[in-house]
Amino acid sequence: MGRFRFLTAGESHGKGLVAVIDGMVAGLPLSEDYIAQDLKRRQAGYGRSARMKIEQDKAEIISGVRHGLTMGSPISLLIWNRVWEDWQEIMSVAPIGKKIQPITTPRPGHADLAGITKYGVEDIRLILERASARETAARVAVGAVARRFLNEFGITIHSHTLSIGKHRAKQPRSINWKQVEKSPIRCADATAEKAMMAAIDDAKAKGDTLGGIFEVIAAGVPVGLGSHVQWDRRLNGQIAQAMMSIPAVKGVDIGGGFSTAGAKGSQTQDVIGTSPKGAALPWRRATNNAGGIEGGMSNGEPIVVHAAIKPIATLGKPLPSVDLRTGKKAEAHYERSDICVVPAAGVIGEAMLAIVLTGAMLEKFGGDHLKETWVNYKNYTGSAYSRKRYATS
Ligand SMILES: Cc1cc2nc3c(=O)[nH]c(=O)nc-3n(C[C@H](O)[C@H](O)[C@H](O)COP(=O)(O)O)c2cc1C
Repeated sequence: MGRFRFLTAGESHGKGLVAVIDGMVAGLPLSEDYIAQDLKRRQAGYGRSARMKIEQDKAEIISGVRHGLTMGSPISLLIWNRVWEDWQEIMSVAPIGKKIQPITTPRPGHADLAGITKYGVEDIRLILERASARETAARVAVGAVARRFLNEFGITIHSHTLSIGKHRAKQPRSINWKQVEKSPIRCADATAEKAMMAAIDDAKAKGDTLGGIFEVIAAGVPVGLGSHVQWDRRLNGQIAQAMMSIPAVKGVDIGGGFSTAGAKGSQTQDVIGTSPKGAALPWRRATNNAGGIEGGMSNGEPIVVHAAIKPIATLGKPLPSVDLRTGKKAEAHYERSDICVVPAAGVIGEAMLAIVLTGAMLEKFGGDHLKETWVNYKNYTGSAYSRKRYATS
C-alpha cells in the first residue's frame, strides 16, 4: 500500500459505515454533495433489492476538510444506515440479555460457511454483516474523493454494463455516457437493455439471480503510472487486485484480455504511429488491445478494464444446504436480496479504479498540496511528451 490508503468499517445493519482516507493532498475542493452523486449512482440499477429505496446514502465529512478544501490531514467519512432503526436489537453493541435465534443454514456461494469456520462463531449473522456489499458504499465514497482529485488532471472514469446473463451489449465505437447514466441498467445498447431487463424480471419470478460483465474506462491518464521494475508496482496488477476485491467479482481482464490469448501477435499488438501536430502525445496507437497498459505502466491510451460478476448467492428460491446445528438437510438462509448487481458493481469498479489511479498519480508526482502535485505533473508531461526529446543531434 502506497501513500494514498484507506480503510472502511461498518456492518450492513449496524449504525453505519466509516471510511478513513490517508495521504490526500491539501487544497483539493471537496464537498459532501460531490460525494453524494456517486453514492446515488451505486444505489441505482434495475434488479436491486427494496433496501436501496430505504437507504439514501449521504457521506458526512467528519474530518480533513475545512471551508471546502482538503487540509492534507486524514479525511474521515460517515454514512448512517437508515435500516439501523429496525435492527437495534439484533445488532445491539451492548448485550441485550436474551438469545437471538442464530442463522445456521449457510448459503452456497456466500462467505457464510468459510467465515464461521474461520472466526469460530456459531451465528452466520456475524459473518454476513460484513461480507455484505453494503461495505462498498464506503468504498464508493472514498472513490469519489479520488475522482475529485483525478478531475484536476483531466482524468475521467466511466462504466457501463456489457452483459447480463446471456445478453451482451453491442460495443459502440464511442459510448454516450449520458445515455448510460439514464439507462436503468447502465447499458449503452438500448436493444440489449430491454432483453437484459426482461431477463432480470424472469430471474426474479423464478427466485433466481443473474451475473454479467461491466467495463470501466479511464481516459486522460498520463503515460508512466505504475512501473515495470517490481511486481507490486505494476499498474495492471494493482487494478486487478482492486477489481477482484469487489464482492462477487470472479474474473478481471484488461483491454483485449482473455480474447488475446487465442489471437496472433500481429493481430494483438497496438501498432505505434505518429500523432498529428498539436496532439498532446507525440505517438498514437492504431488499436488499444493493451487496454492502456504496457509493461505495468499506463501508455496514454484509455485504461479499459472488464470484470465478471457471478450471479449473487442469496436466492429467492433457496439452494440446498445443511443446518449446522442438526447436520440435516435444510434450505439455505434467505434475507432481502438483490437479483442482479452488475450496474451497481460498475460504479464500484469506477471507485476502485479511481483509488488505484490516485495512488499511482501521487506516487509519480508527489506533493503535499494540490498545486505542488500540479507543478510536478506539468513539468513531467511538458518534457516527457515533447517531440524534441527524441530528436537525435
Ligand atoms: C453491489 C453489490 C450488491 C450485492 N448484493 C448482494 C445481495 O443482495 N445478496 C447476496 O447474496 N450477495 C450480494 N452481493 C454479493 C456478495 O456480497 C458476495 O457474493 C459475497 O460477499 C461473497 O463473496 P464472493 O462472491 O466474492 O465470493 C452483492 C455484491 C455487490 C457488488
